[in-house]
Amino acid sequence: MTLSRVLYPGSFDPIHNGHVEIVEAAAILFGTVVVAVITNPQKNTSLFALAERTELIEQSLAHLSTVEVASFEGLTVDAARDLRCDFIVKGLRSASDFEIEMQMAQTNFAVAAVRTVFVPSATEHGYLASSFVREIARFGGDVSALVPAAVNRRLKERFHP
Ligand code: PNS
Repeated sequence: MTLSRVLYPGSFDPIHNGHVEIVEAAAILFGTVVVAVITNPQKNTSLFALAERTELIEQSLAHLSTVEVASFEGLTVDAARDLRCDFIVKGLRSASDFEIEMQMAQTNFAVAAVRTVFVPSATEHGYLASSFVREIARFGGDVSALVPAAVNRRLKERFHP
């Protein structure tokens, strides 16, 4: 049996513990997990530059030997094709995630025949969002329980050097 090569796409601005949990689960369930930072050239509001986001992902997932990190500008289905992935993996935190992710999964299948598999997040990560991590860190709050150590360090350097 050939093990699947799967794409885990996202903004990862920055990667947080909920993302790490989904990649750890995907690494058990599937073969190679390609974690891809997907960027929109028209949307330039990110906190971390692309190179920093990929670096933080590499540092946060260094314990997983079957994970690759990539970046891609454009559509997720094109990333799946170019990075030779069999399907997309997405984490689900809540019913509201399900609604938007279901719509994206159905659209991606309709336009490119790329399937999506959902992995439910653990209860303790159900509330986690990169936007809240950025906001709390910006105002000096403690996000050490929410993000990998490398990300926590980088946020402190960025906001409170
Ligand atoms: O971490 P995010 O911000 O929830 O990730 C969302 C992302 C980047 C995976 C999603 O916005 C996406 O797939 N963007 C690429 C553009 C695309 O493929 N659009 C069609 C969606 S049906």
